[in-house]
Amino acid sequence: MGTDRVKRVCIVGASGKLGRYMVQHALERGYEVVGVCRERSVPKLAEFEGRMTVVAGPTNDPDVIRRAVAGCDGVLTVLVPWGVQQHASGTAQAVLDHARPDARLVFSCGWHITRDGGDTYSRAFKAALRIASLLGRLLRYVEIDDQVEACRRVFASDTRWTVVRGSTLEEGESQGLPAWSRHVGDPVLASDRTRRVDFALFMVEALTDDALVQEAPAIVGRLTPSALAHADASRDRA
Ligand SMILES: NC(=O)c1ccc[n+]([C@@H]2O[C@H](COP(=O)([O-])OP(=O)(O)OC[C@H]3O[C@@H](n4cnc5c(N)ncnc54)[C@H](OP(=O)(O)O)[C@@H]3O)[C@@H](O)[C@H]2O)c1
Repeated sequence: MGTDRVKRVCIVGASGKLGRYMVQHALERGYEVVGVCRERSVPKLAEFEGRMTVVAGPTNDPDVIRRAVAGCDGVLTVLVPWGVQQHASGTAQAVLDHARPDARLVFSCGWHITRDGGDTYSRAFKAALRIASLLGRLLRYVEIDDQVEACRRVFASDTRWTVVRGSTLEEGESQGLPAWSRHVGDPVLASDRTRRVDFALFMVEALTDDALVQEAPAIVGRLTPSALAHADASRDRA
């Protein structure tokens, strides 16, 4: 899809940290922005008042999503596994069901999501994930399996989706568009660090990058040592 074809975008989960960066990037591109967030989080979008439309309500409510995505060329969705209420899968399903069939759909998640099983994870990563899943379930705080289910549904759909898999995140000034690879474990990703503002940048850029349709890029900060070493190696080969 060319940039000129994206005019109106919906950001589902707009009030969170990633969401607000995406709102900023989308407004900078001149897009008309509709944001969805919980009623109590609407004040977190005060800085954008008058520049975006806010639809307040749970992001996994199909009716809320149906109203918010109407007429949107792209939908950016923050998939989060909070609570034990199928929040992530409910949100993904509502977007898949109600977005325009030709809309670009971009979802966020972490490296733990695997599309084709070709990812390789360190023992430390696997152990941390197991502990987080177990504790989250016990405390009824986080439902990581449901984020996995959400992505499974996206991967199985025939929509124009991209699932962006974020590394460990940090705050800080933008370093530019992150580097990416199809598989966690690839050397370019070894630094496992991305600025949140750049995660948002990648999500918004994906709206107009057809090469990312039906891809699940794992991303890493552009100026991290592993991304720089990869860029040097590519230049040497060229
Ligand atoms: N944090 C990391 O280190 C990390 C690493 C890799 C990938 N990621 C991915 O990055 C994305 C953003 O994650 P983030 O950690 O940076 O968080 P974030 O951007 O601050 O977003 C959190 C979102 O979850 C919502 N939320 C929080 N508690 C909730 C609840 N109890 N019920 C329903 N919604 C709730 C927030 O809405 P309100 O504004 O209404 O609270 C907000 O939309 C996610 O897809 C995550 O998987 C994160």
